[in-house]
Parts: sequence; C-alpha cells; structure tokens
Amino acid sequence: MGVEPLTSGVSDLINELFSLRSLRSLLLVLNAVILLLLFPFRGRRRVSVKSSEEKVGKDEKHEGGRKGSAPVVRVPAAIVPQRSTAFSIDQEAAARRMLAIRRVVQDDPDVIREFSLFSSARGDNLFIQSWTPVSFKIRGVVFIMHGLNEHSSRYNDFAKRLNANGFKVYGMDWIGHGGSDGLHGYVHSLDYAVADLKLFVQRVLSENAGLPCFCFGHSTGGAIVLKAALDPEVAEQVAGIILTSPAVGVQPSHPIFVVLAPVVSFLFPRFQVSMANKKGKPVSRDPKALVAKYSDPLVYTGPLRVRTGYEILRITTYLQENMSRLKVPFLVLHGMEDTVTDPKASKKLYDEASTDKTIKLFEGLLHDLLIEPEREAIMDDIIQWLKFRV
Ligand SMILES: *[C@@H]1O[C@H](CO)[C@@H](O)[C@H](O)[C@H]1NC(C)=O
Repeated sequence: MGVEPLTSGVSDLINELFSLRSLRSLLLVLNAVILLLLFPFRGRRRVSVKSSEEKVGKDEKHEGGRKGSAPVVRVPAAIVPQRSTAFSIDQEAAARRMLAIRRVVQDDPDVIREFSLFSSARGDNLFIQSWTPVSFKIRGVVFIMHGLNEHSSRYNDFAKRLNANGFKVYGMDWIGHGGSDGLHGYVHSLDYAVADLKLFVQRVLSENAGLPCFCFGHSTGGAIVLKAALDPEVAEQVAGIILTSPAVGVQPSHPIFVVLAPVVSFLFPRFQVSMANKKGKPVSRDPKALVAKYSDPLVYTGPLRVRTGYEILRITTYLQENMSRLKVPFLVLHGMEDTVTDPKASKKLYDEASTDKTIKLFEGLLHDLLIEPEREAIMDDIIQWLKFRV
C-alpha cells in the first residue's frame, strides 16, 4: 500500500518554488504582466481613432463589446485575480475557526484547555488557546508558535507534557492559519506574525505576573520567534526561546528567484506555484504521523502562494544578517537529515548568537521533530532545559 509522499509546506516552498519548473511558471506570469502593461496603450490608440468615447461606450452597451471595437486580451487563468471575495475568505476562515474551537471544547474534560480570540493591531481576529496544569504548581509559561501551514492544536500532546511539568502553555494560530482570520496558507507579511506574537506575549505576561515566560517556535514559527526576540524589549521580557528546525537557512536553488520573487509577490501575492505539495520530501519517518498531519483540514495542503514564500525568504535573510545581535538564552534542536530547513544554519546560530545557548543535533532525524518516532526524547530534552531555568 503506497502512501502518497507527504510533505510540509515549507519544503514545497523551498524545493518547489525555486525549481526550474516554478521559474518557468513565474516567467509565464511576468510575460502576462508585460502583456497587461502594453494593453492600455493599444486600447487608448483605438479609442482615439474612433474619436468618441461615448460611442465606444454605446457600442459596448448594445453589442456587448463583441463587435471588435473592444480588444479582448486573454490572460492565463492562473493570473486572473481570484474571484473569491473577502466574503468567501471570511466564510472559509469562520469554518476553520469552528473546527479549531471544536478541538478545544471536545478535549478530555480533565484538561483545562481554553480558547479565545485575540484582536491584532490590524484588526484581525486570531485564535488563541491555553493549556493549564491541573494539579501542579505553575512554574513558568511557554508560548507556542507553530510552523507554516499548520496550527496550534497540533502541539496538544507537547502542551500536555509541559503541563505535567508545571508549565502553563499558550498557543496562537498565526494569520492565515488554523482558527485565525485570513486566506488559508497566505501570509502577506511575516512581520504581522512577529507583531502579533509581541502583542500577545505582553498579555500573557500581564496575566502571569512574576512567572518566567519562554517562547517555542517550530520552523517558520522559529523564525518568527527569533525575529521577535531580536527586539530588545522582548528580549528583556522573555526568559528563553526554544527552536525546533528554525527557518534560518533556506537557500533558493536558483539565484534568479531572488530577483523575481519580490516582483511577482508584489503583483500577484496570492499566485500559487502549481504542483507544490505533492512530491516534496517527507518531514517525519513516522508514516502514521504524516497521514494525521496531511489529512487534517486545518493544515493547509494547497500550493504555496508566492508572497508567503517570498516572506520566508525575506525573514531568513534578515535573520542571517542579524542573528549575532541575539541575546536571549536559547535551545535549538535540528534533525541532521532535515531537507526543509538547513541544520547548518542552526549551527551558525549557535556559533554566533547569545552566550547562554544549547544545540542538539539529531543524526538521521527529519524536519518535524515533534512527530518523529523519537518525539518523546525530544520533548524530554526541551523539558529538561526548561526545568533548569525555573
Ligand atoms: C538587520 O537589522 C537591521 C535593524 O533592524 C535592519 O535594518 C536590516 O535590514 C537587517 N538586515 C537584513 C538583511 O534584513
């Protein structure tokens, strides 16, 4: 029984977005852009030949523009602005939110798990949840930032392990993900997620005065946490950060993408790189965990949107150049066989940043460490590091 190769969104982005095939589709888009740019001039010329704008208007009215007076330009379907209105995006997000809420309220009644909506500075509603230890004294707070295309409830097991060790846990679905507002899998700016994280950490701190607060981030979530922690204000409030497979090193396979990505992502931010997500590299060696991940409707499995990919490139460039400014204590964990984010970049982070730091590299492990068969040992490492600091 062949299980279809499954992959994570980030790997699609990194491996697929930069492949030659994708470049070809990007060039196609650029071609179409040039066509569109030429069109108005041609149109205007014709109108002036007709000498009467009013007449053109009438022609269109009576003959539906079919008489040949109105030039018809055909553009590839892929670049036609999506018909989906803000309304249908909202509806889709509302359906996701219902699902996210159901996961929380239908959990084991012995668990204190709650959700709320958090309003971002931009006015988006973000889905937040918390897990509170039942019979343990709370020693610290852990804030979880999930990876690209997934959502906070995927960290349910991890959160419960943390609870059992005296940590209260908060998770946020970032914009375009899980139970939060926005087009599924679309991130217009990762700085939104950075800002939302900062804002929410403020609230967590005010609700848990005196407790040490830690941020955990996986993959792109790790990059978001890192960028936030580079802000001196955040660095002062946070007792430490934990990063699994952070998206610090992500090299485009073709340098021309670096030139094209900003242009295309600006013009057609939601343009999807077709065929992403099917043939990417697996992120775990546990086939069951992969099936669970990719059959979850709250996990985005559609093609990567150009803007989202460009944003990840942008944040990794930022981190590469700025990571030496990092001061907060950190624990970074990375699988040596990770093909989505580069373990060498974690090594570089370890070499260049902070003074209180720990790195754990795992021979043979892939990208999603917390769904690898060795997940219990990974969680043990994280909990041990945390316990040492409270
Ligand atoms: C590094 O950080 C500085 C200050 O925030 C910023 O201006 C600069 O653009 C960053 N470097 C990159 C490559 O983004």
